[in-house]
Amino acid sequence: MTKPMLRALAGERLATPPVWLMRQAGRYLPEYRAVRAEAGSFLDLCYRPDLAAEVTLQPIRRYPLDAAILFSDILVVPQALGRRLWFVENEGPKLAPIEAAAEIEALDPERIHTTLAPVYETVSRVREALPETVTLIGFSGAPWTLACYMIDGQGSKEFMKTRAFALSEPRAFELLIDRLEQAIVAYLGRQIEAGAEVVKLFDSWAGVLPPAGFERFCKAPLDRIVRAVKAAHPSVPVIAFPRGVGANYAAFAADVPVDGLALDTTVPMAWAASTLNPKITLQGNLDPVTLMVGGLPLDEAVDRIRAAMAERAHVFNLGHGVLQWTDPENVTRLLRRLKGTAG
Ligand code: CP3
Repeated sequence: MTKPMLRALAGERLATPPVWLMRQAGRYLPEYRAVRAEAGSFLDLCYRPDLAAEVTLQPIRRYPLDAAILFSDILVVPQALGRRLWFVENEGPKLAPIEAAAEIEALDPERIHTTLAPVYETVSRVREALPETVTLIGFSGAPWTLACYMIDGQGSKEFMKTRAFALSEPRAFELLIDRLEQAIVAYLGRQIEAGAEVVKLFDSWAGVLPPAGFERFCKAPLDRIVRAVKAAHPSVPVIAFPRGVGANYAAFAADVPVDGLALDTTVPMAWAASTLNPKITLQGNLDPVTLMVGGLPLDEAVDRIRAAMAERAHVFNLGHGVLQWTDPENVTRLLRRLKGTAG
């Protein structure tokens, strides 16, 4: 096993941590914007294996990154389950909101692969084209975060409709979580069979849940998903990103058998290093705004994170995705600082 990313996820502390960036393929890159224009819409780009593979590879060509992440979106799973999805320019995703239990009963995890076949095709194309040292990451949204978009119908600060639905219609909501778990396990299994070497679960809105909700709708479902993925594919490392859960990162790391845990921008890395289950590799957590600003604040932040992680297996990353206003040169600066190469 020579790939740095796989070594780090196996618990090895490398002299220079492997590095990749959430949203490393995206609008801050001119070559992405060109392909995106050719595709027409964002969703067309997700479902065109030739173009999706191309944008997955763009950051790998430009930068010495240790991993590529499949270019797609977490919301293709609700779409494959039969929900209507569209993207509004400068606003983000919209879904026809679930309003009744009958709409949840109608969701069929068996049917997702027809819609998602182009995603598996993208995975196998990227895997074939990647340099030997670069690891391919597949991903899915986690049940809670997908449920948030399916019930609220769009992004939100609070996801109040979803949180109210979970409390007032607990049986219907449990059924939704269960259907999503089945779909996610099947989806990740197909990505692995197509060539994904690591899979990551994005629970981007776990942070809006109170402690009891965190246990039931974030930690427990991810625990079942990770165990199911590992039962079928024992050698494939799993990373989870329960974003915004604060002190609950400790309970998550203690109980869920992940190989990697992605930390959001608010987590003090020294606390994480000394507190979180030492068997788990920690990933993160540079602030995307610091990357956008660049310069000395960027250098200092990179050094601080590395110092805090001196004794732990670490994968360097952001604490959330690259912002679209980021100068691509700042990514070059970050990688030079990290790898200690001059010029
Ligand atoms: O490079 C990568 O990280 C891989 C590709 C990827 C995208 N979305 C591409 C994308 C991944 C892994 C995601 C995951 C995703 N999608 C999440 C979880 C991670 C997170 O950010 O918390 C979420 C919540 C979504 C849902 C989503 N997709 C939103 C809220 C938006 C709009 C926000 C925005 O930046 O416009 C998207 C659109 C999206 N997904 C874009 C990209 C590159 C921008 C769309 C465009 O090109 O017009």
